[in-house]
Amino acid sequence: MAGVFSSKMAAPLALLVVFVACVSYAEAAAGGWLPAKATWYGSPNGAGPDDNGGACGFKNANKYPYMSMTSCGNQPLFKDGAGCGSCYQIRCLNSSHPACSGKANRIIITDMNYYPVAKYHFDLSGTAFGAMAKPGLNDKLRHAGIIDMEFRRVPCNYKGLNVTFHVEIGSNPNYFAVLVEYAGKDGAVVQTDIMESNKGEGTPTGVWTPMKRSWGAVWRMDSDRPLQAPFSLRIRSDSGKTLVANKVIPANWKPMTKYSSNVQFPA
Ligand SMILES: *[C@@H]1O[C@H](CO)[C@@H](O)[C@H](O)[C@H]1NC(C)=O
Ligand SMILES: *[C@@H]1O[C@H](CO)[C@@H](O)[C@H](O)[C@H]1NC(C)=O
Repeated sequence: MAGVFSSKMAAPLALLVVFVACVSYAEAAAGGWLPAKATWYGSPNGAGPDDNGGACGFKNANKYPYMSMTSCGNQPLFKDGAGCGSCYQIRCLNSSHPACSGKANRIIITDMNYYPVAKYHFDLSGTAFGAMAKPGLNDKLRHAGIIDMEFRRVPCNYKGLNVTFHVEIGSNPNYFAVLVEYAGKDGAVVQTDIMESNKGEGTPTGVWTPMKRSWGAVWRMDSDRPLQAPFSLRIRSDSGKTLVANKVIPANWKPMTKYSSNVQFPA
């Protein structure tokens, strides 16, 4: 999470900006460019936090498909985790800073920063901030520290990847937590449901149970009886599209393991 502009938020501020969240998607979805402030954190050519992760739970943000083009969002962008994985084009104009190229680049929300900076605030990785510059002027632009920028919501493209589920550390038969990653197009997942299998037969029960957002892009299911795998998982994106990954979590699942599905939102 953030360096200069610390993400340690004051709770009352979160309440103040909640109403802003309600209009942000509608505005950004309309396709027009909206004004925002940009800062950056981490190392100048890095992916943000030192561990290449962030408050969404996505790891290896320095690698494909993130490629260090990542950002913290403030409340209307991070949305308490519901904005995790959503994609935006960002640009800065030379009227903001002479090093700005005006060229649009796509970034992915992987982290949060609720420090009050502006209505919309992208606390970008050093890489993403520098990418808004004219060729060779990345360092010069980063030196500005904070600039005016513009953004608009765009589809994500996780080419070559299907929706992937990482079973989180500590998961056990009574507690199942899963990180949902690489949901294409909308990027953001707003609901995850789980379906168990019938004991012995391994056939799906036909009953979907909603999971709860634990934090970031991690969803959890608590149960006072052992959950019966294989599990099917159903996700819903923020535009209302759903996908079912049938029996994606096998009977012999293990924590700290990634299970790739064979489904993806159409591009
Ligand atoms: C700034 O951008 C405008 C519009 O694209 C262009 O006409 C102008 O030459 C640019 N100025 C600099 C200093 O690059
Ligand atoms: C994604 O799923 C499709 C089937 O829908 C499959 O053909 C493809 O190999 C999968 N890709 C990966 C990377 O798992």
